[in-house]
Amino acid sequence: QEDVFKKIVAHAKEYGFVFPSSEIYDGLGAVYDYGQNGVEMKNNIKRYWWEAMTRLHENIVGLDSAIFMHPTIWKASGHVDAFNDPLIDNRDSKKRYRADVLIEDEIAKYDDKINKEVAKAAKRFGESFDEALYRKTNPRVLEHVQKRDALHKRYEVAMNANDLKELKQIIVDEGIVDPISGTKNWTDVRQFNLMFKTQMGSTGDSQMDIYLRPETAQGIFVNFLNVQKTGRMRIPFGIAQIGKAFRNEIVARQFIFRMREFEQMEMQFFVRPGEEMEWFEYWKKTRLKWHQALGMGNEKYRFHDHEKLAHYANAATDIEFLMPFGFKEVEGIHSRTDFDLSQHEKFSGKKIQYFDPELGKSYTPYDIETSIGVDRMFLSVFCSSYDEQTLDNGETRVVLHLPKQLAPVKCAVLPLVKKDGLPEKAQEIMDVLRFDFNCRYDEKDSVGKRYRRQDAIGTPYCITVDGQTLEDNTVTLRDRDTMSQERVAIDRLPGIISEACDM
Ligand code: GAP
Repeated sequence: QEDVFKKIVAHAKEYGFVFPSSEIYDGLGAVYDYGQNGVEMKNNIKRYWWEAMTRLHENIVGLDSAIFMHPTIWKASGHVDAFNDPLIDNRDSKKRYRADVLIEDEIAKYDDKINKEVAKAAKRFGESFDEALYRKTNPRVLEHVQKRDALHKRYEVAMNANDLKELKQIIVDEGIVDPISGTKNWTDVRQFNLMFKTQMGSTGDSQMDIYLRPETAQGIFVNFLNVQKTGRMRIPFGIAQIGKAFRNEIVARQFIFRMREFEQMEMQFFVRPGEEMEWFEYWKKTRLKWHQALGMGNEKYRFHDHEKLAHYANAATDIEFLMPFGFKEVEGIHSRTDFDLSQHEKFSGKKIQYFDPELGKSYTPYDIETSIGVDRMFLSVFCSSYDEQTLDNGETRVVLHLPKQLAPVKCAVLPLVKKDGLPEKAQEIMDVLRFDFNCRYDEKDSVGKRYRRQDAIGTPYCITVDGQTLEDNTVTLRDRDTMSQERVAIDRLPGIISEACDM
C-alpha cells in the first residue's frame, strides 16, 4: 500500500494536479500548490459541495468572511487557550513530535502484533481470522491484547485530563524510541498552539497581534445576526462557507492529508435548543449520502463517533474514507450547542439571540456543524480513482476513474491525423463544446498515446475526428473506463457529455 501511495503522489505531480510549494527552493513543509488539472478538480469539488448545500436547501445561504478577524474572536472561541497539541522533542535527533501521535503509533504496533499472531493461529487451526481472534487461547495474543488495552486506557485518561507529565511518563514506560535516532532521550511534553500569528498595523502603538484563522467556522458565528436579519432567515437555517484555514501542524504527514495551509467547506446549521440531536442525525445521514453519490463505493466510508469531545461539542462524529493508509477522517459533524454564539455574546457584549415567532420568545440557537477539508476530499477521490491496468496486448495503462462531475477535463478532441482538414474540423467541434465544458485539443503523437494522456488525468471522453467526420458529421466517442468506442453525431455530443458529467 505504501508503494501505491508513493506512485499516486508521483502521478499527482507528473500530471499537473499537485506540486510541492516553492519547489525550486526545495519546498516548504506541508504546503502544496495545485496545478493546471488540480485546480480544475478542486473547483469542481467546491462547486459540487456549494450547490448541494446552498441550491438544494432553501434555508441555507452562503458567506465569504475575511481570513483576518478581530483577535478577541479566538479568545472567545477557546482557540487561544485550548487549540494545542502536546509536543515532545528528541534531544539526539533534534526532531519534534506530537506526543499523542507517538503513543497512538505504539498502540497501532500492538494491533499489528495481535493481527499477525491471530493470522498465524487461524492458519494453523484452519479457522477464519474472527474465529481465531475470539478464541484468544493463544497466550501471546492475550498478552498483547491486555497490554494494548491498558495502554489505550492510560492514554485516554491522560489526554482527557490534559496531563502532559503523564503523557511523557507513558512514552518513558513504553520505551518508545525516536524513529530517526533510535534513542529514548526525550524532553518534557509541552503545549504548542497551532495558530499562526502575525501583526496588523505598522507602528508600535497601533500594532495588534492577529491570527490566521484555524477554521472558517468563526467567521460564520460572528456574522450570525448580519445574515439572519438581512436574509430574514428563520430557524432552522444554515450558513455555508468555503475558505482557507491555517494550522501550524507539528507533524506533516501523508501528502495533502495534513497541511499547514488548507481549505475548508463548512456549514453551520442553527436550530432550536433541544432539537439538536435530531438535526445531528439528519446531517450525519445527509452528508454520508452526498459522499456516496459520487459512486466510489459505499464500503469505503464509515462513521467514527467520538468518545472524547472537543470543548464546544455535545456530540461528534467523523466520516472516514478508506485511503491507501487506512480509514481516515475526511469530514467532521459536530453538535456545537450554543457554545460559540454564547461566547461571542459574552466577549463582544452584543446580544446574539434569535426571536422565534412560533414560540414567541428569544433564545441562543444551537448549532450543528458539518466541516470537510477540500484537500482531504481531493486526496480521497484521487487515491480511490487511481488504477493501473494490464491490457489484453500486455501493455499497462494508468487511468483515473474520477467521478465524472469532478474530472478536470470533460472531453478531449483529437484529429486522427494532422492533415486533410481534420485539425480544422476538430477546432470547429472545440468551438461547439468549449462554452459548456472544459475541453482539451490534442494533435501530437499517435492517437493511442493521446488516449493514454487523457486516461492519466481522468478525462471521461475522447472525441476522435477522422475522414468520415468530414462526410457525415459523426465522430468516435471513446469511454475512459471501458475504452469502448461508438460512432455518434457531433450534435449529440453536448447532451451525452452533460448527462454523464451531471452538469
Ligand atoms: N470547524 C471545525 C473544524 O475545523 P476539524 O475537525 O478540526 O473541525 C474539519 O477540521 C476538517 O478540516 C477535517 O475533517 C479535515 O477534512 C480538514 N482539516 C483539518 N485539519 C487539516 C489539515 N491540517 N490539513 C488538511 N485538512 C485539514
